[in-house]
Amino acid sequence: MNSCDTHDHELAIDARGLTKMFGKLAAVSNLNLRVPKGQIYGFLGPNGCGKSTSIRMLTGLLTPTAGEISVLGMSIPKQSEALRLRIGYMTQKFSLYDDLTVKENLEFIAQIYCLSPNESKRKIEQLISTYQLTKLAKQFAGTLSGGQKQRLSLACACLNDPELLFLDEPTSAVDPQSRRNFWEQLFDLSEAGTSILVTTHYMDEAERCHGLAIMDQGVILADDSPKALMENMGANVLELTHPNLRQVKDELLEFSEVRSAAQIGARLRVLVDDKVNQPDIWLKRALPTLEQSEIHLTPPNLEDVFVTVTEQSSALEVS
Ligand SMILES: Nc1ncnc2c1ncn2[C@@H]1O[C@H](COP(=O)(O)OP(=O)(O)O)[C@@H](O)[C@H]1O
Ligand SMILES: [Mg+2]
Repeated sequence: MNSCDTHDHELAIDARGLTKMFGKLAAVSNLNLRVPKGQIYGFLGPNGCGKSTSIRMLTGLLTPTAGEISVLGMSIPKQSEALRLRIGYMTQKFSLYDDLTVKENLEFIAQIYCLSPNESKRKIEQLISTYQLTKLAKQFAGTLSGGQKQRLSLACACLNDPELLFLDEPTSAVDPQSRRNFWEQLFDLSEAGTSILVTTHYMDEAERCHGLAIMDQGVILADDSPKALMENMGANVLELTHPNLRQVKDELLEFSEVRSAAQIGARLRVLVDDKVNQPDIWLKRALPTLEQSEIHLTPPNLEDVFVTVTEQSSALEVS
């Protein structure tokens, strides 16, 4: 928990005990979230784990079943109207007007924010240039590619110079090059002081965030910087070769010290509890068939963290 010592006024988001029930389903359960100002904070988790529901509560669109929310120092949902002027929100499906042109989409949103004609013109020209929309300005939004829609959506979300941006799976419908460019733009915004909450189910994207919450089935299982999450995951990562990886995998999973084993191409990626000293030697002793195998210690990645924290939480459920 890296942000516990952060003063309240330095927090863009402070949510405590946030819960949303849909009938009997706890879409979000007792979520605690503290996002320091100026950070890019990630929500990592599989489909249906409660990311969008959390964002909708934090933006004041959905009333929580329980919990307290303070966003930019305002109490939500009570002060949602005032909050709306200070945030930008890019929804999962890019809420653009297909039958308006790129420029008209921006002009329409500018009107909603009541920008003066001069201000609106200046801001729209600036955003069209920043997000490489110049050649597309007169094109209908409905005819844009995924990457172009994404750039226009981000431009729309930035029209009011938001202090805080909510981005809900902004890169799920775009190609890898557009994803890279998009992240460059997020870092530019962050450097200019904008706080950003971004949801994703891509591990590589999550790794770029300053802070990260890993979510599964409505619950935050871990939150910290990606580096700290990887350092503190409590397991060493080893990769090994063997002519029969499938069988080795099944046999290794019998050991309580082995937290997970997954085939990655021609190798087996094994997470061994870090209570085990010299895990490479331990593996060869545990399974004599590995005598001839090459076994290497490998740096952990966020997928490993995800596997270990979800495994821990299901172990708790069982016990
Ligand atoms: N309005 C709703 N009514 C009933 N169930 C919902 C509603 N919105 C979301 N859910 C359920 O809540 C869970 C979390 O959904 P969501 O927040 O959209 O997940 P994510 O954005 O992480 O994919 C899912 O099981 C989803 O089906
Ligand atoms: Mg979602």
